[in-house]
Amino acid sequence: MCGIVGYIGKRQASSILVEGLTKLEYRGYDSAGVAIIHNGCLDVTKCKGRLANLEKRLEINPIEGTMGIGHTRWATHGEPSDVNSHPHTNQKGTISVVHNGIIENYIQLREKLTKKGYKFLSETDTEIIPQLIDYYYKGDLVEAVIKAVSKMEGSYAIGVISTYEPDKLVAVRKDSPMVVGVGDGEYFIASDIPAILNQTRDVYLLDDKEFVVMTTDGISILTEEKEEIQKEIYHVTWNTDAAEKGGYEHFMLKEIHEQPKVIKDTMLSRIIPGKPINLDKISITKEQIKDIEKIFIVACGTAYHAGVIGKYVIEKLARIPVEVDIASEFRYRKPIINEKTLVIVISQSGETADTLAVLRDAKAHKSRVIAVTNVVGSSVSREADDVLYTWAGPEIAVASTKAYVTQLIAMYIIALFFAENKQTLYQEKIEYYKNAMLELPNKAEEVLKNKEQIQKFSSKTYMYKDMFYLGRGLDYAVAMEGSLKLKEISYIHSEAYAAGELKHGPIALIEKGTIVIALATQEDLFEKMVSNIKEVKTRGANVFALALEGNDTIEKTVDSVLYLPKVDPLFAPVISVIPLQLLSYSIAVQKACDVDKPRNLAKSVTVE
Ligand code: F6R
Repeated sequence: MCGIVGYIGKRQASSILVEGLTKLEYRGYDSAGVAIIHNGCLDVTKCKGRLANLEKRLEINPIEGTMGIGHTRWATHGEPSDVNSHPHTNQKGTISVVHNGIIENYIQLREKLTKKGYKFLSETDTEIIPQLIDYYYKGDLVEAVIKAVSKMEGSYAIGVISTYEPDKLVAVRKDSPMVVGVGDGEYFIASDIPAILNQTRDVYLLDDKEFVVMTTDGISILTEEKEEIQKEIYHVTWNTDAAEKGGYEHFMLKEIHEQPKVIKDTMLSRIIPGKPINLDKISITKEQIKDIEKIFIVACGTAYHAGVIGKYVIEKLARIPVEVDIASEFRYRKPIINEKTLVIVISQSGETADTLAVLRDAKAHKSRVIAVTNVVGSSVSREADDVLYTWAGPEIAVASTKAYVTQLIAMYIIALFFAENKQTLYQEKIEYYKNAMLELPNKAEEVLKNKEQIQKFSSKTYMYKDMFYLGRGLDYAVAMEGSLKLKEISYIHSEAYAAGELKHGPIALIEKGTIVIALATQEDLFEKMVSNIKEVKTRGANVFALALEGNDTIEKTVDSVLYLPKVDPLFAPVISVIPLQLLSYSIAVQKACDVDKPRNLAKSVTVE
């Protein structure tokens, strides 16, 4: 989510770090900073805002030194601010750390260290790391880093420097990317290859819990037991543009492939088997939840489609009536909202004008507002009563993919949280749902392995002018999202219908060869869906179906079917949307459309 660069060598570090950070700014840009060791002293410059602000500060007050670490931040814990920016240091100012990822148990670690007299300045999870290293430092920096890391839960890629051992840069990762660049008498660390591609093309790709120790004399890669690991150098052949996209042709494709990770990140520390659901930025009490008479979920576009899923799952699990609406409609229709209604707004950017207006209106009517957003410090996050962050990381492609799946996860989390507090489900059932959710990252990974069939189907359909998406229940909500994705990036007209509604009008449009994408993942509605598919088949439609493994009777009714790994149908939307995203992507590529920047669209719609 954020970006890390580090350097140790004979050249001045500052300009190398800043140049590397410019290549990572697309990943996060709410603050940036560098820490450099010179003549045994640690110099840190960091500030809120774009990298240009940091560059200006460094121009006025240059920092000398040939070893340092740099960071560009996309806030997760704590608002974007100077003090929350990285690098973070221990209290004595002798150890400095940059970090990507999330330290799940930072609150417990912070409490322990506070009892031992440590003071914390920022709201970040990262500040725990230099303090913990300080706590374990007994004359060996590598040993202290190993000990500190052994206490940390979550995901991390970290770079560490210290005035205690001013000739050493130490780095390690777990579940967050990190590479080590090898130059001539110099070494680099980076969270992504583009950051160092102008310096070297020879890199080590680090695996989890491999500790790298770099000095100007050499490099060693160690296990937790300090045993040396022999690794092969990987020679990067991509150009900078491809490297920014992680080797993918477009950001959208990269973001589709990031979905298993962001699903996992969004559940991290919130869904833990055997423990109550933990929502740290939500202070609504059990009594307040019990008093809710009605929920409104309000959003725009893709976020609205996530809201439609939210309605189904909150009603099913927590038994609270939910109305879902488009923000631009809701704000002008004088809805009945008061202190007994809860409003949930969903917004990836947190800045969408209509969604923000709904939030303000709801508050003016004394409704409590929960914001589900991807951007820490965004307007909706600041103005809502409670916030549930989706940890999707920056989404660059205009068409939303990974943010959408994290919004779905947020809807499931809220539904289970309410169910737990209202006791509308037995505890065993809640545990069952939690475990089913925790399997979703692997299931999503499986779907991503099976792209051939989608590509084949797309090559037969990309020249069509119209398509239909059909589904029932949760499948209908996913059909809407699939249809929107196709329109947005391939400019093919498409319609999503609740399959049972077809015969009330739109079936008149079905003729020989009409392309129909039929979603049939909802087992209780499966037979009804098959009947609807037969209705379009008999009128000549060419039907491509999505079904869960095991439901192979569908093969008799459709032209082709793609099977999804078996999941509880309640969670099927999280994986059934992936083939639809890939289909739109593949069609758009074949039509030579500008996938990442579709015509007429903007990533953040801050005007009405
Ligand atoms: C579609 C898409 C848009 C957004 C909508 C709301 O791919 O990205 O439909 O979902 O503009 O944006 P946010 O979530 O930022 O409020």
